[in-house]
Amino acid sequence: MSRIHDALKRAEQERSTSTGTHVEPSFDQPEFQPDRVTAVPPGAGMMSNTGGGLSYESLLARCPQTEWAPDARTMLFFDNNDSRVGAEEFRTLRSRLYQIREKIQLKNVMVTSALPKEGKSFVAANLAQVMVRQHGRRVLVIDGDLRNPGMHRHLGAAQTPGLAEYLLGECDEIAALQRGPMENLFFMPAGRAAGSAPELLSNGRLKILLQRLEPLFDWIIIDTSPVIPVSDSTLVASLCDGILMVVRSNVTPSDMARRAREEFPDKLLLGVVLNGTQSGAVARSKYYYGEAVSSKV
Ligand SMILES: Nc1ncnc2c1ncn2[C@@H]1O[C@H](COP(=O)(O)OP(=O)(O)OP(=O)(O)O)[C@@H](O)[C@H]1O
Ligand SMILES: [Mg+2]
Repeated sequence: MSRIHDALKRAEQERSTSTGTHVEPSFDQPEFQPDRVTAVPPGAGMMSNTGGGLSYESLLARCPQTEWAPDARTMLFFDNNDSRVGAEEFRTLRSRLYQIREKIQLKNVMVTSALPKEGKSFVAANLAQVMVRQHGRRVLVIDGDLRNPGMHRHLGAAQTPGLAEYLLGECDEIAALQRGPMENLFFMPAGRAAGSAPELLSNGRLKILLQRLEPLFDWIIIDTSPVIPVSDSTLVASLCDGILMVVRSNVTPSDMARRAREEFPDKLLLGVVLNGTQSGAVARSKYYYGEAVSSKV
């Protein structure tokens, strides 16, 4: 049985022993390892020019800072309180991703799950924040859920213009980007909800967008629609280096999680984030390695 299946099985076992609703996230993994993180090539040297005329400096100049009002209950890193429940676990997830990046090309990370409301946007937004908390790291988080945009609510940011408008050819990438209060954290909201999401996501412009923005950032985190109801995330996956699959403890039926996992090639699956588990009084999340990574380590 694959390690992803093992992880899902463990998640299933935890569902049966879990005692109540979650409050905050965390990941049950060893301590954050800054030595491993700092050993990773930062990619900073790649960031001055894209060849298409867009540089990080011009991005900063052309994309003024906007006001955000992040949801204090779920956005863990805006208040500079490093002891929030769950913050350490996101650091561990960050550390894991850097370890994986020592083995494979990894910049565009898609976050998805089987069903709605499992915590995709929560995980994607907090992952982007914890990445950018490391000095000098530049991170873009994209709300790729064109049918049911939600990340702008977590971040307290404007919904439009965003990815939909860019894919429709109504604006350029700069107009679709926002720069919030956290240094080096950029956000591209989904834009106005689009019924034609599959057509937009496969019209070729998303690939161009990523090609233009990749050289400017250390990480691009892409939030997506749930896998089972709609096929949009498989379109996005084809442009990403890896996938994190969110499973919500006590909520996601294991057969749904398995079906979702089977939509993607093994080599893209980085691991499973088990979100909202309970441990005594503290709700937790866990991160499990996926088989793609372990087979390359
Ligand atoms: N670990 C957690 N602790 C506390 N609240 C959480 C946690 N995970 C998710 N939530 C909350 O659960 C709700 C759903 O989360 P989120 O919006 O991230 O899910 P989603 O998978 O992106 O949903 P959708 O499929 O609708 O986009 C939100 O209100 C979010 O704040
Ligand atoms: Mg969402």
